[in-house]
Amino acid sequence: MPAIVHTLEELQGIRETWRTAGESVALVPTMGSLHEGHKALVREATTRADRCVVSIFVNPLQFGAGEDFDEYPRSLHADEAFLADTLVDVIFAPSVEVMYPEGPDAAPSLSAGGVGDTYEGASRPGHFDGVLTVVKRLFDYVDPEVAVFGTKDAQQLFLVQQMVQDQKLPLRIVEVDTIRDSSGLALSSRNAQLSETSLTRALEIPRALEEASHQSSAEDARNRAREILESAPGVEVDYVEVVDPETFRPGGESGAEEPARLIVAVTIGGVRLIDNKLLHFGQ
Ligand code: PAJ
Repeated sequence: MPAIVHTLEELQGIRETWRTAGESVALVPTMGSLHEGHKALVREATTRADRCVVSIFVNPLQFGAGEDFDEYPRSLHADEAFLADTLVDVIFAPSVEVMYPEGPDAAPSLSAGGVGDTYEGASRPGHFDGVLTVVKRLFDYVDPEVAVFGTKDAQQLFLVQQMVQDQKLPLRIVEVDTIRDSSGLALSSRNAQLSETSLTRALEIPRALEEASHQSSAEDARNRAREILESAPGVEVDYVEVVDPETFRPGGESGAEEPARLIVAVTIGGVRLIDNKLLHFGQ
């Protein structure tokens, strides 16, 4: 069973023991309510370093006013049991006071800037500033050689990678592909908030991604995905776009053969869901 650690002192004590023993550390940052998607990250992490830390922290800084911070599912005991069959050494589950001793409202926020203000960032102002702030603190506290993130949150992954490069942080980011259920729906802690009707409606998301991947240009792919999602009952479309995976700027010039990433965000029954797929054209 992994050890559960709530304080910085305890975490840093364990980290120091590992450092002295010359052991490397992989970190998997999460907000808990763990599912098989998180477990895929954990499995990858445990192959990449001697020790593995999973952080579980619902980060108030990345939720806007009126978002689901209070409703976000929290289940530390279930999460602990879920990780029992993995090689995780430590679950770091700090309180808000431990992460933000200055108070979450006073915490200085890193600015995600540029790409951080588009797509998810445009719909959720300040969201990525909050994500980068907590991720940077976790990196500082755990001091991992490797940190593992999911492609499911492609824009978040892009911005974390950019931060690591810009600040020359001494760690490597490893990415893991999206894990889906048998019907193709990307696993997400928020799926638990979907009613049965909403769950059925959400299947239009993987259908739209799949249909789009059969188109021969980025424009056709985006249009096909939009068409499917905009005509789906009960599905409120926020954005359906194609971006250049290298820059996260609008991409997929017509005729280009470079891969492009189709990104979508919708709300179904009051629950916001995001998904994406890498598309290849001209092959
Ligand atoms: P959370 O939504 O809990 O996700 C934690 C990690 O799991 C992220 O890297 C995310 O991309 C990955 N993940 C989620 N669903 C996945 C799936 N179906 N397949 C593969 N990976 C999946 O993302 C966050 O938490 C937070 O923003 C965090 C980075 C922890 C900062 O607070």
